[in-house]
This record gives sequence, C-alpha cells and structure tokens, in this order.
Amino acid sequence: MNGEEQEAWQRLQWLRQQVRYHADRYHRLDDPELSDAAYDRLFAELLQLEQRYPQWQNADSPTQRVGAKPGSRFAEVRHGLPMLSLDNLFAAEDVVGFDRRIREGLASVGLVSYLAEPKLDGVALSLLYRQGQLWRAATRGDGSVGEEITEQVKTIQGIPHQLTGAALPTLLEVRGEVYMPLAGFADWNEQARERGEKPFANPRNAASGSLRQLDATITAGRPLHFFAHGCGQWQGEYPETHAQMLQRFQAWGLPVCDWWRAVEGVEGCLAYYQALEQERDRLPFEVDGVVYKVNCLADRERLGSLARSPRWAAAHKFAPREEQTVVLGVDVQVGRTGVLTPVARLQAVAVGGVTITNATLHNFQELALKDVRIGDTVLVRRAGDVIPEVVSVVQSARPPGAPTIPVPTSCPVCGGAVQQQEGKVALRCLAGLSCPAQRKEAIKHFVSRRAMDIDGLGDRLIDLLLREGLVEDLADLFHLQPQRHRLAALERLGDKSVDNLLRAIETAKQRHLGQFLFALGIREVGEATALNLARHFASWQALQQASREELQGVAEVGTVVAEQVWQFVQNGANQRLIHRLQQIEGTHWWQMVAETASDSQPLAGKTVVLTGTLSQLTRQEAKARLEGLGARVSGSVSDRTFLLIAGAAPGSKRQQAATRGIRVIDEEQLLSLLQQKRLPESWQ
Ligand code: IVH
Repeated sequence: MNGEEQEAWQRLQWLRQQVRYHADRYHRLDDPELSDAAYDRLFAELLQLEQRYPQWQNADSPTQRVGAKPGSRFAEVRHGLPMLSLDNLFAAEDVVGFDRRIREGLASVGLVSYLAEPKLDGVALSLLYRQGQLWRAATRGDGSVGEEITEQVKTIQGIPHQLTGAALPTLLEVRGEVYMPLAGFADWNEQARERGEKPFANPRNAASGSLRQLDATITAGRPLHFFAHGCGQWQGEYPETHAQMLQRFQAWGLPVCDWWRAVEGVEGCLAYYQALEQERDRLPFEVDGVVYKVNCLADRERLGSLARSPRWAAAHKFAPREEQTVVLGVDVQVGRTGVLTPVARLQAVAVGGVTITNATLHNFQELALKDVRIGDTVLVRRAGDVIPEVVSVVQSARPPGAPTIPVPTSCPVCGGAVQQQEGKVALRCLAGLSCPAQRKEAIKHFVSRRAMDIDGLGDRLIDLLLREGLVEDLADLFHLQPQRHRLAALERLGDKSVDNLLRAIETAKQRHLGQFLFALGIREVGEATALNLARHFASWQALQQASREELQGVAEVGTVVAEQVWQFVQNGANQRLIHRLQQIEGTHWWQMVAETASDSQPLAGKTVVLTGTLSQLTRQEAKARLEGLGARVSGSVSDRTFLLIAGAAPGSKRQQAATRGIRVIDEEQLLSLLQQKRLPESWQ
C-alpha cells in the first residue's frame, strides 16, 4: 500500500466503525447521537471509498447491511423474504443515474413507469396475514431477523386484525411504516413536559420507542398510525403493478397513504418530488423524502436486489430537518404569562432550507434533563412552522470544562422574583404587567388576529412604540390619535400606514366581550372558554362580580380556570388597566352581542365528529374552535352526527359516516368553515 492508500484504508476502517456504532444507536437503542444528515454523510463517504477501492469491499461492511441486530427483549422472527433498505438519492443527477441503471437493467428504450410515494419517517413493520387474519407482526431488525411485536401492533388504530373483501391471499405479508402523526407527537411531548419527563426527540423516535414496549398497554396509549407501502410473501393471485397492490390493500381495509402517484420517467419523478416538498410543511406526518419504485412487479423481479437494497427502488431525500451545531450561549425569554424559557443561541446552521441561530430548550427542567452546556454540539430540529428546538447533546463532542447553565433566581428582564408553582414545570416571573417583557407580549396577544385583530401592529412596531414611550399598556393603544405626527415620524412608517393603523385600532372598539376576554390574556382562558364566559355573564360587570363558585357554573370551566379568572379580576394592576380601558369612548367590549344562530353559531346544537390526523390544528384546538361555533364534539359517529371532519388516515369512522349519508369534510374545508364562521351555501 502506498501512503495515499494507507490513509484511505484507515479512513475506511474508521468510517465503518462509526457507521456501525451510529446505526446501532439509531435502530436498536432508539437514541441517535447524530443527525440523520450527518449519518447520511458518513455513509455516503464510506460508499464512495468502497467504490474507489473495490478490493476492500466486503460482505461485513455496514454498506451491505440493513439496520441493526435486534435486542433480546422480544422473541426473534426470521423474515421469509429479507426486509431491505433503500439507496439514497440526493440530487437530480442521482435520480438520472438511478433511472439510467433501471433502463439498462430492463434493456428499455422508452420511459419507465414509476410509483412515487412519500418516504415516511417512521419504523418499518411487517404484518403477516394468514387467511386474512393478522397472525404475526415484526420489526425489520437487521433485515433477516426482527422482533416479534404482534401484541403491540394489535393496539395500533387502523391496522385491521382481519382483512375484508374479495380475493384475499392465503398468505400475505404487508410491509409498511408505523409513525406518530405530528399533532399526536406535539401533544404527547407537551404532556411529557408538563409531567417533567423527557420528551421524544422526534416523531420517528416516538414511534419506535412506543412500539417496542414490552407492555402492550403502553403502546395502546400512544397515538400511532400505520401506512402500508409494500409486500413480502404473497400466496394468491398476485397484482401486476404496485399501484394495483396499493388499491387492493385499501380494498381489504389496510391504510394506504393517499399521496402515491404513478409517474413517468425522470421528469415525472422530479415533478412529484417538488410537489411533495412544497406540501411538506402541511403534511400531518413527518416525511424525509420520496421513494421511487418501478411500478411493474415483473420488471422488479428482473432487476432484483443487492445485499442491502433493491435495484428497483430508491429514496430521494429532502433537506434534513435536523442538523448539528454548537451552543454559543443560552438566553432567557419571558413570555406573556411570565414563563421563563431558555433559548439556545447557536452557531448559524441551515435546517430544512432555513438558517437558524436560536432554538428553544422549552424549560429549565428539560435543559437539565438534556444536560445542555455552553460549547456543546447539539442536534437541532426544525419541522414545519414549529419553533426550532434543541433535541439532544452529542456527549462525545463536549469540550472539557463546558460550563453548565444556571437556573435564574430573578427575572432577567425586570429583576423581579421568580417562582416555580407547585406541580408545574415552568419557572415564572411574578411581576405581571409591571414586567416590560410581559407587557410587550400582552400587547402582542391583545392585537393578534384571533383576539382584537388589529391589523398592521406587528412585532417590530410594538417594539418601537414601547421604546419610544408611545405606549406603555393596552389602553395607550387607543390614545395614539393625538400622537399622529410622532407616529408618522417613526422609522419607515408613512402617513398612509399611520392612517391604516389608526383605523384598525378604531375598528377594534367594535369587538365583543368574548373576543375582549380572550384578548386580555387571562391564564387558562382560550378562545372557546372566553366565549363561554361571555355568553354566561353577558357583561363585564356581571363577570367582575362573580364568585369563584359562580364562575365554575360556566360551561367547561373547572376550578383551575375559575381561580385564574377570579385572580385576574381581583388583581389591583389589572383593575387599574380595566378602569383605563373603560374610559375609552365608543367601545363595545363590555357586553356580549346578541348572537343569531346563523352568524356566530352556525353549528349550534349540531354534533360533529373529528377523525384522522389534522396538520394545522391540534385536536384540542379544533374541538375548542368547533365548540366556539356552537357544535357538540363527539367521539363516535351516530345517526345524530351532522358532520364528520376527516383528517389524514381517517380509519373506519369515515366509512361509517359514508354509509349513513353523513357529510364528510377535510381539514382545508374545516379551516375555511372556522374562518368564515358560517356554513357554505351549498349545504343549505
Ligand atoms: S419501500 C425494499 N416505501 O424506508 C424497499 N420504504 O430506507 C423497502 N420507508 O425500511 C422499502 N416510507 O421502512 C418504502 N414509501 C415507502 C417508505 C419506506 C418509508 C422506510 C422503510 C424502509 C426504509 C428504507
């Protein structure tokens, strides 16, 4: 070996050892240390070296292997046909190369028909059905041997225990992906944080950790879903194309992701890739790329497979959602209700196409659990419009003597006392509206679209108004008219914008008590609760005089909410603010307007059922907002159901609604209904 070869050999050995180590952490331990992107880079470098030095290729290399050997917690299952992995494509040229290899393999001159599907970021699952009955479920493991998890899998919503319909194969192995929808993942993590437990790093981890629980009742409590995307063994009449296979799966009651498309050649693949990438942030589940598969199953046979992956399919990856970077420091933000949130200042890094320099650490308990220190290399994650967050620390990269982050003993903005309330994780500044940070956040909330809806009062302008002393509290917003000239002189604010702003502020005087109560930002009072309070008391005066017990008499108001409302009303600073707001002329906020069923409560007295996964709202939000329109939200479809809202992977309720002739709408239609606050005319 010459010097260069020597160096390459050492690098190759190191890469193999690294890839093995990280694959094991990812697949077997569910505790990855590297971002997927960093792992993919190591893997790609190893592949390249092995291609350059074919004499060093060997069957033991991680480039020839799938996943990791299963642990010993579950019984072992030997797969009838190996469960393979997929080669990765990163750029358009890679797709061209993939297509060329397929055409060479098939000696084809024309365009190849592909089936393009989302690459779901979950856990591979094999479901074995005998005579249509679910007989055994297993993880992929190392591709030859996986773990038996039948009992766990039987608890997953939407996986049929018995297939139904015609021409069922005597033996059918369905392969697919178990995943945790983003809304379920967010809800789960929020609850974990409230309990002071370590949240899941990402939806894939959440799915894998939930599935591999020895106690199947734990799996049953997790919001897991499944999509079928392929098959292993199949005894019975075999379909001709992948598209037909998916259609049959669906007809037999198996959930199939409805984003699959049949496409032609490289152009078709790339157009699909772009279309899905554009939707990526709106999808209710995590997708890390797309998969192209030769559609014709006979052609697949001809192409065959390599040790680790088939020749007939490949994964075209999206920009990663997780990346690694270094923590430069930790700042503490003070929110509207005084909650102190540690936020990591980061060395700039591009995540999913956006450069991020900050990521939330959620709370000090989580910071301690994750043991984040200054100088640490961390994994950061940015998904959709969710705030970027620090997922975990790469312990092995910690510099010696990296300083820990102290828990604040006073508010970093006003210097006031902080406290951790009993049973709560959050640390809170107790100064209320006398803390400038809380004042600013209170104004931002007050003017926001769902509250007083004052258009043109953005973050930057609020900052400016506070800095210039034009506004100190909410009431000052309504005294800006005499300050017109000072406003117009503000940075980049012309006469026209000032006019618009003043008009928007004037219009906000028309809002009713429900909106006003929500806008005040009383803790625990969301939009729906504010509306219930407003309807019940009909005026501020009546609400102000209510006792805790009377408050508890309001629909959906329990002791916690009643206490918060009562405290708010009794608080001296709040009373002074209310008094100042009462001096403003022409305001309608103090009363609840008489509502007519057709305008503000189009769903009054009607029963609505939610099913499937929503991407833009959590279930609780959707429920609250539907209730705000007068609906009664129920868990099951019956003859009384007026409307079914079907998110992604809606399961059997959709069918039940269809057989009863109940109207079914999707998430887009729901959002439009919530915004319009009236039923579409075509429904009359
Ligand atoms: S097909 C032999 N289709 O990605 C081909 N896989 O790296 C088998 N995955 O373990 C895979 N979405 O769990 C296929 N639409 C999809 C997929 C998909 C996610 C996972 C699968 C596999 C891994 C391959």
